Formats: sequence, C-alpha cells, structure tokens
Amino acid sequence: MIYLTIKLIHIFSVFIYGGFLFTDNLFLSKMKKDLTNDEHSQIREYFMKYVRKVVPKALIVAVASGIYLFFINFGVIDESGWTNFQILLAIKGFLGSWLGLRGVLQVFFGIQPLVFKSHLFPFILVIIIIVLSQLMFSV
Ligand code: HEM
Repeated sequence: MIYLTIKLIHIFSVFIYGGFLFTDNLFLSKMKKDLTNDEHSQIREYFMKYVRKVVPKALIVAVASGIYLFFINFGVIDESGWTNFQILLAIKGFLGSWLGLRGVLQVFFGIQPLVFKSHLFPFILVIIIIVLSQLMFSV
C-alpha cells in the first residue's frame, strides 16, 4: 500500500512537471508568432508566476518519490553484472536527478544551468525518461 501510494505520488508529480514542459514547448512558445515581444514576455510572466508556485515543488516530489521507488526496485547487483533493468533504471534515475538538481539550483538558489539553458532540454529529457520508465521493465 505504501509502495502504491508513493508510486501514485510519483506519477502525479511527474504529470505536473512534464505537463508544464509540454505546454510550454508545444503551445506557449508558439504564441510568439502572434504577439509582440513585449506582449509575449508579459503573458509568459503571468503564466510563470503561477508555474513557479507549483512546478518546482512537483519536481522535488518527483525526485524524492523516485528515490524511494529506486531503492525498492533496483535490487542487488549480481556477480554476473548489472541486469538490463538495472542499467536502464540507473540511467533513468540519473537523468531524473539531473533535472531535479538543475531545477532546484535554478528556482531556489538562482543559479542558471551551465549548459542547455532552454526548456527544450528538460522537455526532451522528460520524454526520454518516460520511454525508459516503460522500456526498463521489458528488456
Ligand atoms: C522528472 C523526472 C522523472 C520523470 C519524468 C519520471 C517518470 C516516471 C514514469 C512516467 C514512471 C512510470 C510509472 C508507471 O509506468 O507506472 C516512473 C516510474 C519510476 N521512476 Fe520515475 N521519473 C522521474 C524521476 C525519477 C527519479 C529521480 C528516480 C530515481 C532516483 C525515479 C525512479 C523511478 C522508478 C524506480 C520507477 C518504477 C516504479 C514502478 O513502476 O513500480 N524516477 N517514473
């Protein structure tokens, strides 16, 4: 029951974080075409005002719940080496933690990412992480 609850928390927090990235990359960025620079930055700022209240916290919850799921799922490393599941889960966990660290540094400490500054990068990472999360159980 605890596992199921944490897994649901993981899915919903990932949903909120990923949902923001999908909205930003697929829709909000397209509005630029129809608006002046000033209008666009003003509208984006209204949107981001509410995003900042929720999305960074959802990312922290996603990473924290992910770490719990990781320790339950990873298992012991066999003498014959890592299983394919363990390799994909480790990559998934690493990419997810990278996103988490990047988000926390940016939002709570004002440290801008050194590389891949746009929201396109986390968007692509989230897609890769979601694919890995499904692949890892079937390899
Ligand atoms: C923003 C980053 C993350 C995203 C977008 C993400 C996404 C997902 C998704 C979509 C699932 C599949 C749920 C299902 O099919 O039922 C999942 C499961 C899982 N995630 Fe994450 N995750 C993230 C971060 C993390 C981190 C940082 C870790 C570990 C350190 C982690 C560990 C896991 C584990 C172990 C599962 C499998 C749980 C299970 O199916 O029982 N995740 N994640």
